[in-house]
Amino acid sequence: MFVRSVRRRQPNSFWAGRAMTTRTPAWKSGLLVVLLSTLLLAVSGSAALASVTTTQPPLRHIKINLHDKAALQTGALYTLHMCTACHGIQGERYSELPPVLGLSKSQFLKYIGTDGRHYHDTITTSMSPELMTKFLNMEPPDLTDIALRRSPAWLYTYLTSFYVDPARPTGVNNVVFYNVAMPDVFAGMQGLQKPVLVTGLRFGSPARIAVGVQPLTQGTMSQAQFDQTARDIVTFLYAVAHPHQAERARLGPWIIGLFLGLSLLTYFIYKLYWRRVITSHERWWRIGR
Ligand code: HEC
Repeated sequence: MFVRSVRRRQPNSFWAGRAMTTRTPAWKSGLLVVLLSTLLLAVSGSAALASVTTTQPPLRHIKINLHDKAALQTGALYTLHMCTACHGIQGERYSELPPVLGLSKSQFLKYIGTDGRHYHDTITTSMSPELMTKFLNMEPPDLTDIALRRSPAWLYTYLTSFYVDPARPTGVNNVVFYNVAMPDVFAGMQGLQKPVLVTGLRFGSPARIAVGVQPLTQGTMSQAQFDQTARDIVTFLYAVAHPHQAERARLGPWIIGLFLGLSLLTYFIYKLYWRRVITSHERWWRIGR
């Protein structure tokens, strides 16, 4: 095998001569222009965005535990009986849920049920699209999509921060979703809430912005109980949107270990190959030196 050595090159070789050239190569100045214009664009872009700033309310902190089967079961119970009145969860089938919830098929059918749908069906909404368009002026989005797109903290804040707003057709508004079309389905459990308003910006114009809520009337649940229920619903939604999360967490370390092992093997093969390569110093005929 015949390969040019890179490591033992003499200092006065072609490459050393190149290194002493002071002229900036064309690609370098081109790169500089690209970097500078990107920076300029970013600065002007954020300036343009700043003019349509909306004051963002803080999100409520939430920690999700996918191993908490009780939370998942409670979440499933509420979600499958309250939310599917309007929302579909078509990314999931009823038959996929028992292992996620830690239940057997018969336990699932007994305690949670499928609302008369087939066990192997995807979870669809109970209301027809025409009815929903008539009552709500829109079709509620699919919750599998929403749970994938929104963070758990956003979902948790959304579910716990509906507040009374007489200006809205549904009578309620939401802290993180201004002018939301969803009615406050938790009014009975949580009670009604009033907004905490601050002066801020909405799409760049000064406005009174809701950044939090305060209890107005007492619901059937205490504040802590309701927060727990909302957390359970978010846990279930997260599990539905990330059905392979537990498996990924289990397999992850093994896969990384496999790659580390392969890297080690590849390193030994590299060493083996290069041991056989003859460098220019060892060549007796010394071509080009
Ligand atoms: C009466 C019908 C109805 C029920 C019941 C209902 N929703 Fe909604 N929901 C809506 C509508 C309509 C929207 C769309 C709001 C909009 O875009 O303005 C919505 C929006 C949402 C969003 C935000 C979607 C987005 O674009 O980010 C979430 C999250 C959500 N619903 C969760 C739930 C959960 C969880 C439940 C069950 C506890 C539930 N909803 C029950 C009608 C409903």
